[in-house]
Amino acid sequence: MSTFQNIKGTFDILPDPYTDDGDTRVAASAEWRFVEATVREVLERHNFDEIRTPVLEPTELVARGVGEATDIVQKEMFAFERSGTQYVLRPEVTAPVMRSFLQHHLDQRGGVQKLYYVGPCFRAEQPQKGRYRQFHQFGVEVIGTDDARADAETIASMMAIYEALGIPETRLRLNTLGTPERREEYVAALRDYLQTYEDELSDTSRRRLERNPLRVLDTKLEHEQNILQGAPQLIDFVGDDSLAHYDRVKGLLADLGVDYEEDPFLVRGLDYYTETTFELESAALGAQSALAGGGRYDRLAEVLGSDAPVPAVGFAAGMERLFLVLDAAGTERPRVPRPDVFIAALGEAAERWVFRTTQALRDAGLHVAHDLKGRSLKAQMKEANRQAAPYTLIIGDNELEAEAATVKEMASGEQTEVPFADLVEHLTAQVDAEGAA
Ligand code: HAM
Repeated sequence: MSTFQNIKGTFDILPDPYTDDGDTRVAASAEWRFVEATVREVLERHNFDEIRTPVLEPTELVARGVGEATDIVQKEMFAFERSGTQYVLRPEVTAPVMRSFLQHHLDQRGGVQKLYYVGPCFRAEQPQKGRYRQFHQFGVEVIGTDDARADAETIASMMAIYEALGIPETRLRLNTLGTPERREEYVAALRDYLQTYEDELSDTSRRRLERNPLRVLDTKLEHEQNILQGAPQLIDFVGDDSLAHYDRVKGLLADLGVDYEEDPFLVRGLDYYTETTFELESAALGAQSALAGGGRYDRLAEVLGSDAPVPAVGFAAGMERLFLVLDAAGTERPRVPRPDVFIAALGEAAERWVFRTTQALRDAGLHVAHDLKGRSLKAQMKEANRQAAPYTLIIGDNELEAEAATVKEMASGEQTEVPFADLVEHLTAQVDAEGAA
């Protein structure tokens, strides 16, 4: 065992799945590739192009973009200074994508920019099931339009991913936050109302009441939820244009057959939102119930220094939480990639032949395994079994002399003599036939 362990709240993703000490199943790398490939396939079908931005960003971008008063900026940033520059490990990707859009004038590509991403994010949270310090998000940002169709298409693309992966029983909550100006009026009214109950509020809610009263709406405490029943409602403060936009989004979702529930208390933990917000939940997740979330953020570009407004909408989703839900649903997993052929060698001359032939078979497109340790034939056959190759070859002096190999099909036990000269062709045909079956 090494002196070192991975940092709490981060994971090694290994060739095989395993259970970490927090009792979480960590999916195998092949499962990650499968889920990522599905995400990409669905999003590309929805006409999104990939964007990759650095994991390191200027701290100020996140502070301004996500908002000084948010939990993320207040207590969850992995930020550090090096030679006078302030760096942060990105806690999310929306502000970085908008930075990149503005920096590279992506509007000049023409039309609406539909961008997607998949990659790691970092938040210094207290690790627990579904909440990690390094986690992975996939998401989209639709930049350059305030059309309600962009909101509805964003949500529909998100839903299509969960559908493609066969995730049952998610709950989509929807709300509108209106414009920041109207929201300010609402926050003032909410603060007045909550102040009359201040003595009954938890320490957390009292702190939020001071810094960011909207966040009190997120409370999970029942007695606070009861207090909120009588609180002023955001929807009563939202202007007519916002309501009309919200109605259009709801109508378009209905057209697409996307079910949703309106939740006037859905506020989300990032400050850049305007108008539509949404969150996708799964009951299978427990306390950290959000699979994905997002919304419109029409003012972020200006907060980041743009002269002109750049309306935009997007969502992001957590990969680890997606795996938790896939586990709970018992969704079928892709097999760990296994070799097509395992070639065992007996003796030094055979080892050299196997080494060369392995290369030739790989060049022909086959996935080939062999021994790299000079182990006994028995150990090599054990390894062939462990790797579950459907075909094995054993090469020794006799085979070299006869210039023919015995190809054993493991499932049936059937053996075929194949001249060396025909080996590539024979194995390729066998593997192709199996793939087609
Ligand atoms: P968010 O709600 O902060 O939104 O994160 C989106 C998703 O990332 C969550 O629903 C959750 O699945 C996952 N997630 C967040 N924090 C953690 C964590 N510590 N451990 C595991 N998973 C986590 C955003 O990040 C916005 N940028 C979404 C967005 C995109 N809005 C507009 N465009």
